[in-house]
Amino acid sequence: MLEVRELLAGYGETQVIHGVDLAVREGQFHAILGRNGVGKTTTLKTIVGLLPAFGGEVVLQGNSIARRQPYDIARLGIGYVPETRDIFGSLSVTENLQLAARLAARRDRKWTIERVFEFFPNLANRRENGGNQLSGGEQQMLAIGRALVMNPTLLILDEPTEGLAPIVVRQIFDKLTELKREGMTMLLVEQNFHFATRLADTVSIFGRGQCVWTGTSEALRADAELHEKWLGV
Ligand SMILES: Nc1ncnc2c1ncn2[C@@H]1O[C@H](COP(=O)(O)OP(=O)(O)OP(=O)(O)O)[C@@H](O)[C@H]1O
Ligand SMILES: [Mg+2]
Repeated sequence: MLEVRELLAGYGETQVIHGVDLAVREGQFHAILGRNGVGKTTTLKTIVGLLPAFGGEVVLQGNSIARRQPYDIARLGIGYVPETRDIFGSLSVTENLQLAARLAARRDRKWTIERVFEFFPNLANRRENGGNQLSGGEQQMLAIGRALVMNPTLLILDEPTEGLAPIVVRQIFDKLTELKREGMTMLLVEQNFHFATRLADTVSIFGRGQCVWTGTSEALRADAELHEKWLGV
């Protein structure tokens, strides 16, 4: 589904990721773990076209996307849920979803705005409310719903549990489990080790701007040394 090869990227003159390799297979749930500042968000932003690649290759279903605009990449099938959520505070929940639905490519219409409201009943109750009136959890659900109405073939999420209460984290966990059961291909960046390893088929660990290990969730849970070296505080 997605192949990232030798990806180099950063900000201005400063290179932050130094040759990231990553392969996400169709129908897989792939998680990226790593300490703060190792380049997880930078990698995602480069994949979705919000940052220019200094070098390397990103291939989505056989199409090279490393030099394309974010809008094109979204239409080619990547749904992106940013760390900062980035919903429009002055627009209502429905309007936020309508805007995204309008940008979507007209291939699959599985995810309509109504289906997003069925999937997230909390959001349905808030449909006329402004984005800035939502709780953190509702904003996160809207950010996910907005990516879904674009009917992505690959859903990328950057720390969707950050700053949320345990009960809301549980709700997001259940929703990602449902999406996984439906066969959605997902790439998740997380700080929450248990959240990520319970969902993921495959985990990649990032350290200092590179992917330093890839394997199954089971293998990672069984390897205390690996955890200590790259994830321990
Ligand atoms: N807009 C920016 N301009 C310059 N440097 C940046 C910018 N954003 C991030 N960086 C730097 O790039 C490096 C990687 O940051 P990045 O946000 O990709 O890390 P991360 O792995 O997502 O961390 P976190 O777990 O804290 O979200 C850090 O050293 C950070 O200071
Ligand atoms: Mg980050």
